[in-house]
Amino acid sequence: MLKKISNLLSEVNNFKPNSKENLDNFRIKYLSKSGELNKLFVLFKDIPGNEKKLCGKELNNLKNTINLKLEEFKNSFISKQQVATNDLSKPIILNNLGSRHPLSIVKNEIVDIFNRVGFNISEGPEIEDDWHNFSALNLPEEHPARDMQDTFFIQSDPDVLLRTHTSSVQVRYMEKNTPPIRTISPGRVYRNEAISSRAHCIFHQVEGLYIDKDVSFADLKQMLLYFAKEMFGEKTKIRLRPSYFPFTEPSAEVDVSCNICSSKGCGVCKYTGYLEILGCGMVDPNVLENCGIDSKKYTGYAFGMGIERIAMLKYQVNDLRLFYENDVRFLKQFSSAI
Ligand code: PHE
Repeated sequence: MLKKISNLLSEVNNFKPNSKENLDNFRIKYLSKSGELNKLFVLFKDIPGNEKKLCGKELNNLKNTINLKLEEFKNSFISKQQVATNDLSKPIILNNLGSRHPLSIVKNEIVDIFNRVGFNISEGPEIEDDWHNFSALNLPEEHPARDMQDTFFIQSDPDVLLRTHTSSVQVRYMEKNTPPIRTISPGRVYRNEAISSRAHCIFHQVEGLYIDKDVSFADLKQMLLYFAKEMFGEKTKIRLRPSYFPFTEPSAEVDVSCNICSSKGCGVCKYTGYLEILGCGMVDPNVLENCGIDSKKYTGYAFGMGIERIAMLKYQVNDLRLFYENDVRFLKQFSSAI
């Protein structure tokens, strides 16, 4: 009996578990009902009196050693997850934290810049009717400028279409509100364009509208300069070029100084020192009248920009399609506070 105990004792002492199963098997082998320890206790009953004392002592020693061994390795094979759930004070594991999409980041930034100077946000439907997308904006049927925005129509009904710009939201807003109006309209728009590195059939815009008494082109210019500096940095300059939009008169296209080459000329600005970012102008009196606003009393300005274009300039992304492919390696590079 003593020999058996001492064999088991050295076996226990040498035992080093390498997995949770291994440790479980050890416990079962020694401590279960039919385990080694119980077998010895059964034999112990029949041991002659004079040997009992010594054997009892050794048996207890073996039992304690087994328990110590189990205690020693008890926590070795607990998974990380178990540890986290067992200890409620542990910080959560943030391995898979996502980030905001770059287009959302830029949209929020634009919205935030205009919010700070009193513009509110207005939204409208993506499926529009002809009036709100075209006619009210001084683009009557058959007007050649409708071709500037190649349109997706729905169910072959020429009155139902996917909006080509968020100017439609401005029409809805003017119909429902009276001046002073100061609102920006972010949203998704659709145009039947071939998909390339610079264009997509679905993209995003932020358009702005300001209507009050005595609003002038100088107010527009100042607001755009403020926006450009907030978005691209304090040193940014703007340049306005005459342009044409049916809903504004006069109209202009706005360029910002290239912040990659500090306007010296580089591949991104095609050696012009400037990059086009938006269209703008004074709201045509016809548009105001169409929306029930007295054009003798009020004037206003409007502007519209593509979020993709601003994001490409800001992050120097040279292919617009990257924004829609949802490649995590691309998306992971962006983070934001808003
Ligand atoms: N709606 C025009 C577009 O989508 C942009 C614009 C808005 C231009 C307001 C002038 C004034 O191209």
